[in-house]
Amino acid sequence: MNIEFLKLIPSALTITYVTYGTCYLIKDIFCSIFPFSILLTVALVALIHLFRVPPPDPEIVEAILGKEPHEDIEEADYVLKTVAHRGAGLDAPENTLAAFKMCAEKGCDFIEFDIKLTDDGVPIVFHDATVERMADINMEVSKTTWENLKSIDISTKHPFRDRYGVTNIPTLEQAVDQMLACGQRMFIDIKDNDTKIVPVIHDLFQRKEELHSRAVVTSFFPNIIYLVRRGNPKIVCSLAWRPHAFAYESFKYPEGKGPRRASAWHKHILNELWDIVHTWSLPRITYYFLGLSALLLHKDALSGEKILEWKKKGVRVIPWSVNSPIEKQHIARNLKISYLTDTLTGENTVHCSTNNC
Ligand SMILES: *[C@@H]1O[C@H](CO)[C@@H](O)[C@H](O)[C@H]1NC(C)=O
Repeated sequence: MNIEFLKLIPSALTITYVTYGTCYLIKDIFCSIFPFSILLTVALVALIHLFRVPPPDPEIVEAILGKEPHEDIEEADYVLKTVAHRGAGLDAPENTLAAFKMCAEKGCDFIEFDIKLTDDGVPIVFHDATVERMADINMEVSKTTWENLKSIDISTKHPFRDRYGVTNIPTLEQAVDQMLACGQRMFIDIKDNDTKIVPVIHDLFQRKEELHSRAVVTSFFPNIIYLVRRGNPKIVCSLAWRPHAFAYESFKYPEGKGPRRASAWHKHILNELWDIVHTWSLPRITYYFLGLSALLLHKDALSGEKILEWKKKGVRVIPWSVNSPIEKQHIARNLKISYLTDTLTGENTVHCSTNNC
């Protein structure tokens, strides 16, 4: 018997499998992947749209942030030029009433300051986790009561300490009252990823109605901003962003990342994952979901392209912290936007409030 025909079996099998595979793939695309993907897409769009907080009225945003230096400006318009980062911490002890007053005296009407809670839940104006950098005492703010924090002199390490004397940590209430009395506007920066601060913000805005057209609430954490705006959609909010914010303690160009935040590997990998997802989602979903009005962007990640990209989404870009005169000139004159700075020295020579200067 001639068994030559057996040699055809592998080829026939190949044809069978390829045909079967192709048919199966086509069937799968049309019968299961395709309907599934449409269904999931529709569901995602519906969910995001349903749970988003719409952005505030553009008129309210402009009432606070004014016009940007590149816009059509009329005599009566408010133009946001310079934001004093922590009340210009290079010129006076940062985040203090003395610094905010110094800003008012120098004509700076926009302040950024940081808030967090003491151990007994008092909202205070402070940046770091401990008072060490400011006062040389190793005290953790979130584990210390207001009674024990309020008399600490936080000017002791500032180069201009002689000019300001004993300077204490202010409460949120004191800071906001002083700024409103001085006609200053503000970025209230929520420092920690702790939802306990959210009702504090709602209560503050309820008691001081004026804040709705004077203050922007900001944070690095989108979940915090979501809760703030979900509870009161009239509050204008921004988000702060820098590369690797969740996984690394610092970032600058050209050195790159600073030390890791988490020492444990599994926590570090989770943080890295957050950074990747957050960075992808921010200009696609997050800004829309939160109804953001501004993005506080690390100056080393700033470009004309980024400014345009965000402008199309109705979000203005404000870089931080811009301290050197050359960078200030570039941003004010060429990119024509405002910025956060740690020093007001030489400010008036940089910005101009009309288009034709
Ligand atoms: C912030 O806290 C929330 C709730 O505890 C948590 O789900 C989220 O991962 C935290 N975000 C970051 C970046 O650590």
